[in-house]
Amino acid sequence: MASITLQWPDGTVLPAIGQGTWKMGEDPSQRKAEIAALQHGLDRGLTLIDTAEMYGEGGAEEVVGAALEGRRDEAFIVSKVYPHNASRKEMIKACDRSLRRLNIDAIDCYLLHWGSSTPIDEIIEGFMHLQQAGKIKGYGVSNLDDREMEAWWQHDNGALCQTDQVLYHLGSRGVEYRLLPLLRERRLPMMAYCPLAQGGRLRQHLMSSPAVVDVAQRHGVTPQQILLAWVIREQHGQRSVIAIPKAVHPDHIDDNVAALDITLPPEDTALLDQAWPAPARRQPLDVE
Ligand SMILES: NC(=O)c1ccc[n+]([C@@H]2O[C@H](COP(=O)([O-])OP(=O)(O)OC[C@H]3O[C@@H](n4cnc5c(N)ncnc54)[C@H](OP(=O)(O)O)[C@@H]3O)[C@@H](O)[C@H]2O)c1
Repeated sequence: MASITLQWPDGTVLPAIGQGTWKMGEDPSQRKAEIAALQHGLDRGLTLIDTAEMYGEGGAEEVVGAALEGRRDEAFIVSKVYPHNASRKEMIKACDRSLRRLNIDAIDCYLLHWGSSTPIDEIIEGFMHLQQAGKIKGYGVSNLDDREMEAWWQHDNGALCQTDQVLYHLGSRGVEYRLLPLLRERRLPMMAYCPLAQGGRLRQHLMSSPAVVDVAQRHGVTPQQILLAWVIREQHGQRSVIAIPKAVHPDHIDDNVAALDITLPPEDTALLDQAWPAPARRQPLDVE
């Protein structure tokens, strides 16, 4: 079992780093490598796999399904429903399609991908119905900010929401101001997407930042591993964040597994804080 773990609200112990699948299932020439990557991750203990009906319009779920053949029990599967499919009737159909592509009986945690115009009560009713039917084991949300979460929790069965999956990395720390403390108070894990800042200029800027390079050199690891170790670090005496980097390259997967063994001492986090400060005020939720 991977070293840094945390407990999901249903009691399942999960490694604090999982596997993302956005951009998988889009290019048939990559399919074999993507399946092998997820299987390699599972072999190495990265048991949480995050996917969505949106990724590759079902293609990513098919890749996950192929990777799970004969080893469903080793994985904890998170998938997401499109907001426009979040009505009680459409959600059942969307979930059935996801289950077929994933080739499994039940999704471990089914998330609303982002805020929907469907009333919250109806969305929750849909999740409850799926849970009673044994098609999902739990539900969560994604891309909801602190105020939206507080509103969610006011609804019947809103408190059963297991997680909020949001963008979080060293260069984007807005959620630390209020959302993360609210989730922590309720002992709910936050899932951090784009923990490596995905791509583009910010990523380059982060990786070459002297503070990140310095900390990485001292630990003898890559800047990316430091970014992951930072995302899953203990905050206020608790570890409550699960990072879900997407990696197809086998070396990247091995590095991500190894990041589960990196503990950043206070002098490292202080250096990183100085270069990439925590938010001093509330900020809108980042989505890219
Ligand atoms: N809920 C939402 O709205 C939402 C939005 C975006 C993403 N997500 C989820 O979060 C996951 C992660 O986000 P993301 O895929 O956008 O970005 P990311 O994980 O921040 O970055 C992925 C990129 O990092 C590379 N990489 C992975 N591990 C590495 C390592 N150890 N060293 C160097 N490079 C490494 C990957 O390369 P290779 O693939 O070549 O190995 C890939 O190019 C997604 O796949 C998806 O499951 C959710």
